[in-house]
Formats: sequence, structure tokens, C-alpha cells
Amino acid sequence: MAILVTGGAGFIGSHTCVELLNAGEDIVVMDNFYNSNSRALDGIRKITGKDFKFYEDDMLDIAAVDQIFAENDIEQVIHFAGYKCVPESVQKPLMYYSNNLRGTFNILETMKKYGCTKFVFSSSATVYGIPATVPVKEDFPLSAINPYGSTKLIIENLCREMYAADNTWTMILLRYFNPVGAHESGLIGEDPNGIPNNLMPYLTQVAVGRLPYLNIFGNDYPTPDGTCVRDYIHVVDLAVGHVKALKKLEEKPEVRVYNLGTGHGYSVLDVVHAFEKACGHEVKYQIKPRRAGDIAMCYCDPTKAKEELGWEAQYGIEEMCQDSWRWQSQNPDGYATEEK
Ligand code: WQD
Repeated sequence: MAILVTGGAGFIGSHTCVELLNAGEDIVVMDNFYNSNSRALDGIRKITGKDFKFYEDDMLDIAAVDQIFAENDIEQVIHFAGYKCVPESVQKPLMYYSNNLRGTFNILETMKKYGCTKFVFSSSATVYGIPATVPVKEDFPLSAINPYGSTKLIIENLCREMYAADNTWTMILLRYFNPVGAHESGLIGEDPNGIPNNLMPYLTQVAVGRLPYLNIFGNDYPTPDGTCVRDYIHVVDLAVGHVKALKKLEEKPEVRVYNLGTGHGYSVLDVVHAFEKACGHEVKYQIKPRRAGDIAMCYCDPTKAKEELGWEAQYGIEEMCQDSWRWQSQNPDGYATEEK
């Protein structure tokens, strides 16, 4: 019996594979390397000392997905695969809907065909749209403010409707806040295509000299220092959240939703300063106009995950910055860095 991890070579996927293998689970990994690299798989093997089956396949290829289920006894699926860049989704909505939805349909249809009914979905805090208050709780109203968010929301709704129609499914929807950090080994980490959109990879690339300075989008928000506040969460904590969710999948069929965040908000400037401490030098930045679509404050109430999954974030902003820096400084060009 194995767990299928779609998108297992990606940032959150690769760290989750490590935690699953360390927990003694048998995994089968699928990835098309669209926004990921085979060296992440080498990193997983090196960190854990364990091997696993890998399929270089695209979830849009339903015959390939079918073959994975035919060749393996898949009992649970953790579904990370998908496009994830918000501004790109605004430019290319059809591409996002087409890939993220059709791919997920293929996974769910194949699960159904093979009688596999245990599904963990990589959702996002983006499904809260513009929350009226913070901290954000799981029962807050949901809305999508960009095509990427729409795909997450549609898949969440689909899971609820599938369960309503057939209550043998167990669906766990994990809403991640802002994932950062890297494995402490420095062997796997975040390596986005092109110029990063998110704060931490941009910051690490400035610190390592790949980019000249950080643009801080707005310092006139109604927050303590004027810059936006977010709930940054160490990717290893997130990964452990998935291991806990798998245990929950075994309890009883239902749909469960959890916020995975620390519950603490840090401003952009807080992160910059914590990062400067971690890397030991100043990081140049410039204040720029607000970025369209940003909200002033977003952090979660993680109580439900603590009470029901027994999960709680262990790492603080210092470790997040130290581990992000270790990854980036050891791999200045990400996975394209030449091995010494
Ligand atoms: C954080 C803060 C920026 C870059 C996004 C998605 C969300 C989720 C996580 C997947 C904001 C500021 C950023 C920069 C900056 N993804 N910033 N300069 O927007 O909170 O969330 O990633 O599910 O759906 O929307 O994350 O890292 O882009 O921004 O000043 O170069 O950093 O304005 O305040 P965000 P982020």
C-alpha cells in the first residue's frame, strides 16, 4: 500500500516526501518537472537514505495516471501538482483553469475507478479572498480574487460535493498560509522559475547577489510599520502537517478543512530584518507602490489543526530565514547550481 504524491518534486511536495519517508511511509511520486527539478528527488533520497518509485508524468495525461494506479496499490493521494503563480494566473486564466482543474479531475476520476477514496488537497489561504478580520478561521466566508484562487476554491467545492454524493470519500483540505524556509540539510528548497513573485525567494536572491535589491510593495498600510503582515510558515512544519493529515484520513470518511500557519503575523520589514540577521549582512530594498491585490494583514488561527490533528508549527521566523538562507547560499542558482 502506498501514498501517491503528485507534484512531489516541488517545493512543498519534496519536503513532504522527506517527512513521509522518515515516518516509514511507502510513497510513489509523480511530477512533470514543469516548475521543479529531478535534483529535488536526489535530495529526498540523500536526506532520508530511502528510495521510492518515481513517474515523470503529467496529470493531464489520464492514461499515465491510470498506469500509476494499475502498477501500484495506491491507498491515499496527496495532491500538490498545479500551477501556483498568482500574477501569471491573472494573465493566463485559461491555462490555470485548464491545468489545475483538468489535472485534478484526472486524479479524482482515476482514484474513483480504483476505489481509492482518501485524498489530501493542497489548498491555500487565498480561498479566504479578502478576510474581514484576522486571525482567519476555517469557517470564514470563502471567495476567489484571482484565477489561481478560483481553481483552489473550485477544487475545494468539488471535494465537498463529491463527499455529499458518495460518503465513502475522505477529503482533507489543507489551507497553507505563506510557506518559506527549506530543509536544514540545504539539499532541497524553493527554486521558482524566472524572477520570483513571492517575498522570501526574492529576498534570498537579493542576498545572494542574483538580484540588485528588494522591492517592498507599499509602506502605507494600516499595520504597525506600514508594510503588509503575513503568516509565514516553515515548509518542514507544513510537511509534517501532511503526515498528521494522513493519520486523520484513517479515522472516518468526511471532508475536513485545516489552516496550516503559525498564527503569528510578520510584516515585510520584520522578515527583511530577521533575514539580515540570518545572512549576516544588509539586504538592499526600495519602497515601491502597493502591489495590486495585496491585503494589509493575513494570519490564521491554527487552533483547529492543533486540536484535531495534533499539529502545531515548531519553527519561528529565525529558523525560517536561516534555512532559506542556507539553501540559497549553498545553491546560488537553485537546482541549476553546479555540484562541487
Ligand atoms: C508577501 C508580502 C507583498 C514580494 C501568495 C499567494 C498566496 C499563497 C502564498 C499559494 C506581501 C510583499 C512580496 C516582493 C514585497 N500562494 N512582497 N516584495 O501575496 O501573501 O501570497 O503566496 O497558495 O495565494 O497570493 O505572498 O510572498 O507574494 O507576498 O514587498 O518582491 O510581501 O506585497 O505583502 P502573498 P508574497
